[in-house]
Amino acid sequence: MISKYLLSINLLNMSKGKSFYLTSTIFYPNAQLHMGHVYTMTICDIIARYQKLIGNETLFLTGSDENTAKIVKAAKEKGQEVPEFLNEITAGFKKLYSDLNISYDEFIQTTDQERHWPGAIKIWNSLGESGDIYKSKYTGLYCPQCEAFYTEKEVIDEKCPLHLIPLEKLEEENYFFRLSKYTGKIKNRIESNELEIIPNTRRNEILAQLERGLEDISFSRPVHTASHGIPVPNDPGQVMYVWCDALTSYISGIGYGTDEERFKKYWPADVQVIGKDILRFHAAIWPAMLLSAGLPLPKKLLVHGFITSGGHKMSKSIGNVIDPYELINEYGAEAVRYYVARKLSLFEDGDMTVESFQDAYNGDLANGLGNLASRILTLSEKYLKTCPEIPKKSDFAEYFKFYESFDVRQAADYIWKKIAELDVLIQEKKPWESKDTQVISDLVIRLYTIARMLNPIMPETSNKIKGLIKANKKPSKPLFLRKDA
Ligand code: MSP
Repeated sequence: MISKYLLSINLLNMSKGKSFYLTSTIFYPNAQLHMGHVYTMTICDIIARYQKLIGNETLFLTGSDENTAKIVKAAKEKGQEVPEFLNEITAGFKKLYSDLNISYDEFIQTTDQERHWPGAIKIWNSLGESGDIYKSKYTGLYCPQCEAFYTEKEVIDEKCPLHLIPLEKLEEENYFFRLSKYTGKIKNRIESNELEIIPNTRRNEILAQLERGLEDISFSRPVHTASHGIPVPNDPGQVMYVWCDALTSYISGIGYGTDEERFKKYWPADVQVIGKDILRFHAAIWPAMLLSAGLPLPKKLLVHGFITSGGHKMSKSIGNVIDPYELINEYGAEAVRYYVARKLSLFEDGDMTVESFQDAYNGDLANGLGNLASRILTLSEKYLKTCPEIPKKSDFAEYFKFYESFDVRQAADYIWKKIAELDVLIQEKKPWESKDTQVISDLVIRLYTIARMLNPIMPETSNKIKGLIKANKKPSKPLFLRKDA
């Protein structure tokens, strides 16, 4: 629900709100990120910027999932040592985030022995103290890409259902986590919405899995098969299973194991954003770990669909990725953010092509927003002496309610509806004929409101338009230059 004070919000003088903690998944840094990952990060950033806009003290955590065999393999292939390889790749992540204006606050790396490992060790010990860790033999079908075991029922032609690659049959002595013990408790928390899973389709999907029951899972690997990882406390022969270690980054990143005060300030997370492929890890394994450790569960899990390309999940292993820099270099980062917000539904899969991107860019940005801003600013520079007085308050209740339900696409649709209405108004009023300063001032104020609304989705464009309005100047070049094929 939108609180009352938001109904008429003063964006220039925000009252101090509560704290809001948001996490993205942490990516495998075995290669540079593609548009699928950019999708996750842009959605997170839009949510974070909205929370900051309404005055909540927001912490946005991201990071990289580094204790995996695929990192060792990728470093070897490049002829590099693991730390050197990781530095290079994570520097690339950070550059991309900076180029895309992703306003993350913390970046946690799971190889960080000072910030992350104490938390991972602490939670392992807590699970042990609850009697939920035991040693046993394990035989299973393992996908090195997912870093996960599959049951016979889940595999298709002995291949990974996601990566379509042959699975490896492994037999190992491992530590197990008593996941089965938590099936009922997790089900209750999800059914009561104490742990809210959005959208409903994903909630139903995990509830059906819980109905079938959860099996205990292997939580460690012998050192000889996974030399790269966090050693299991008191057993140098084993390293933690990468998912146990990776999920813990959501709490180690805010001080679990190193700074309890900070941890308590932010945990539980207000929302954790994940892709639909890792629902089971986040809606079953992660809550079970937290329950076992006596910690609160996150409030919400927001589960997004895939960007597909040619009908398949965009993925490096399938080989159908779009490099974000292909788009950033040609169309600019703001266009990438726009496309993610408006052209892909958060809750379903969406196919993406460079052609559809160009159409959206030309139609909605160059001809739509860019043209509108330029027309109004040209009129104001010509006929107004100064920028009209901008009201301090705007009524954004209708617009903000979309963010409260994480419906970023509808929020973006709402802005473009306002852009279309303003286009019609200009055509009706013909201010270039009447030169009516009252009408022109009104158009400028309406454009300013649109710029304010753009803030979470296109922060740079929002600031640019607001700056030009304040300076009463038309843009020296088009905000979005039309691209022809
Ligand atoms: N490292 C794990 C997550 C650990 S979280 C404690 C992982 N990494 S990943 O790099 O493979 O993927 C990270 C996220 O990117 C996932 O949420 C996944 O759904 C998302 N995406 C990867 N490809 C995607 C698309 N093609 N489309 C949308 N999201 C995609 O899983």
